Amino acid sequence: MSILKFKTILPKLPSGFLKNTLLPTKRVPLKILCKYSSGSNLQIQENEHYDRPKLLNVHLPNTSEPLKLHPIWLRDHCRCPECYNDVTCQRNNDILKLSDQIAISTYSQSDGLLHICWSDGHKSSYSIPWLVSNTYDGKYKALQEETDRLTTWDGTTVNLLGLEPISHQRLMSDDKILREIYRRVFQYGFVKIEQVPPTKLDTSAVIERICRMSHTVFGKFWETGTNFDHKDTGYLNGYLEAHTDNTYFTEAQGLLVFHCTHFNGTGCESFLVDGFHVAKQLKQLDPSAYDYLSNVNMESEYIEPGEHFSSWGPIFRHHPVSHKLEQIRFNMLDRSPLSSIPQEEVGTHYRYLKTMATLVKKKENEYRFRLSPGTVMIIDNWRLLHGRESYQGERVLRGCYYSRSDFMSKARHYGIIS
Ligand SMILES: [Fe+2]
Ligand SMILES: [Zn+2]
Repeated sequence: MSILKFKTILPKLPSGFLKNTLLPTKRVPLKILCKYSSGSNLQIQENEHYDRPKLLNVHLPNTSEPLKLHPIWLRDHCRCPECYNDVTCQRNNDILKLSDQIAISTYSQSDGLLHICWSDGHKSSYSIPWLVSNTYDGKYKALQEETDRLTTWDGTTVNLLGLEPISHQRLMSDDKILREIYRRVFQYGFVKIEQVPPTKLDTSAVIERICRMSHTVFGKFWETGTNFDHKDTGYLNGYLEAHTDNTYFTEAQGLLVFHCTHFNGTGCESFLVDGFHVAKQLKQLDPSAYDYLSNVNMESEYIEPGEHFSSWGPIFRHHPVSHKLEQIRFNMLDRSPLSSIPQEEVGTHYRYLKTMATLVKKKENEYRFRLSPGTVMIIDNWRLLHGRESYQGERVLRGCYYSRSDFMSKARHYGIIS
């Protein structure tokens, strides 16, 4: 029987690194040296070329610090037609054919390009700005800057942002406004489009103009107030506390679109809460609660005849590289039975959850408004929580979801994110 023996060597950690092991931290590479016993087909050996490589120093303008690049990374990222298909934007090379012994024979830098002749005779040229933005430090910096561009708000400061609604006429006639819509959603978490004729046809035209609708268990284009098609409290007229949707999907839908096309009654004030603002408040008020809710998974579920969705995750999800807050999953109504922690930890769990719920329900954090016929709202479901007061009378709310992948793809296309 073959046995793989692993010896893990932790690199020297920055001081204070282990003060709080729950905190998301900057990546610290693990070096794993593997030994193998005879009889195994998989022979993993220490490879000096991988583990202790001679990094190539690329001189960068305006800084004395060179860009250090591993030869294997460079060879794997060759963008010549043999290695990379410019039409499909996919790699052509087979990672198993990437030689462990590949070495740089000669290299030179000129006019913003790095030229390399490899030991096997292959030649590569790279744009130096491309190298900077596609390696760890450059990507890390870009992701940090993207997050720094977000403007968080509360119920008072949201009114000082000067966000004039976008008119229906401009949306339908000016292609340039699309980028502005994506920028606002990314920066503030929502955008309003006004003077939209309150018909099904006009609502769906506005929706399709911005991004493709997502098809979920609720259909593509849903309608509440006229039916009880789905067994969800959103289809009833009671009070709805602030929440995010789809905590029970493996990937919650990224954006929500609402258009109240008819209202003849009383009550029904809507409100939004900036979850990223609440996260900041919680981090300040009780850092251990923030750490706990960033690390402990909770299960959520949605059940209707013929369906049973379930997904696990923490309330705060962070980006895997930047470690910045990326998503809030907060829906107290869709929680499954709490089975992710032993009973001994239940007390702590409820204490932290209640601290968070108290901040979410703070009146000062709520942006209140009335969704009236003619106003289409696009809301970031990974950042904002939405809710509404109970109502009496008739109300028709139409809308859809955009998937996170679809919306972010367009945001990347418009240059809003990298
Ligand atoms: Fe909802
Ligand atoms: Zn190549």
